[in-house]
Amino acid sequence: MEPEVRQRTRPTWAEVSLGALQHNFHLVQQHVGAGVAVCAVVKADAYGHGARMCARALEAAGACWLGVTGPDEGDALRNAGIKARILLMTGFWRGEEDDVLSRDLTPAVWEPEQITLLQQAALRRGVVYPVHLKVDTGMGRLGVPMEDLPAVCEALVASPNLRLEGVMTHLGASEIMEAMQGQKACFEEAQAVLHSFGLYPELVHMANSGATLGRPDTWKNFVRPGLLLYGYSPQLWRGGKVTDEVPPLAVQPVLEWKTRIISVKRAAVGQGLGYGRTFVTARSSRIAALPVGYADGLNRALSNRGRVIVRGHYAPIVGMISMDLTLVDVTDIPGVEAGDDVTLLGRSGACAVDAVEHAAHCATVPYEILCAISKRVPRKYVD
Ligand SMILES: Cc1ncc(COP(=O)(O)O)c(C=O)c1O
Repeated sequence: MEPEVRQRTRPTWAEVSLGALQHNFHLVQQHVGAGVAVCAVVKADAYGHGARMCARALEAAGACWLGVTGPDEGDALRNAGIKARILLMTGFWRGEEDDVLSRDLTPAVWEPEQITLLQQAALRRGVVYPVHLKVDTGMGRLGVPMEDLPAVCEALVASPNLRLEGVMTHLGASEIMEAMQGQKACFEEAQAVLHSFGLYPELVHMANSGATLGRPDTWKNFVRPGLLLYGYSPQLWRGGKVTDEVPPLAVQPVLEWKTRIISVKRAAVGQGLGYGRTFVTARSSRIAALPVGYADGLNRALSNRGRVIVRGHYAPIVGMISMDLTLVDVTDIPGVEAGDDVTLLGRSGACAVDAVEHAAHCATVPYEILCAISKRVPRKYVD
């Protein structure tokens, strides 16, 4: 394990519980059963949690596959000593094909040109190299569209140094039953096309967290959850209503975001706070300053909306969040002083604030809240 992050003078940090991550991985693996490989998605620096440490913890927990976006992220994991298979879910850039092979990364492919480049790289090395074919079944993002699938199959058949190990698609709305069914049907058709070319990939995968949680018919023999592993369960919908047919998995949030009060001040009635004086005190108040701001990833949309936890009580964010500082109203919390611990995301006493709450205030998704916690915030790894 890496040495503890050096104690900084600026007391704002994120605590990442590798124990919680491993717990979540085990829960997901039990949920899908031993016959289904869980490819733990650790792209985007493991959704802001730190890919190297998370990948090591996941590998130690039994993960045989890790999912990243491209070769740079895969390379960083190999440099961290990761031995598990690494799936490049966004493929590779032209010119990276030799690195893909030398670092033993498994690329998604969806165009004849990618197949040609990899075939040549594999031929140069005298190996037969595994690839996963990505099919666009309705998200309109990456993947071969159905009408181009025969040409891609021909390219694969004509590439003796490539082995089609997997076929995959990505669901655009796994949380909504009807949207998911259309993509699933299209994916079945795509597999029939592959079979007609004599291509029988042994790994078939489409499930992200939502589908891993509640759509067993999408699991096939391989699932690719991300958010679920970090402790957040997507909600599933049927006909506009959250379904109760899927028991939630007892995953735990892996990351807690903390800081400490650096100053507490009295503010008289009528005092404007922060840039633009968007908050004006209606009573004599005690206002605490926190050394965290939007440059740390605390979204400005939480200004005058969000809350933090101090001494086991909620304290509302008042005024505009600035680049390095945020003000909270601690008038109703007895005994608050400089140096007190503050929870920005996490649980303290009976109170909890999570990335879903932040996302609701910011009109975004918990993914973005977690990924946005900036590099200025050191990650401390705890079990
Ligand atoms: C191809 C692919 N698979 C799996 C995932 C994991 O998604 P989630 O975090 O919703 O489980 C992603 C994330 O966007 C993805 O792009």
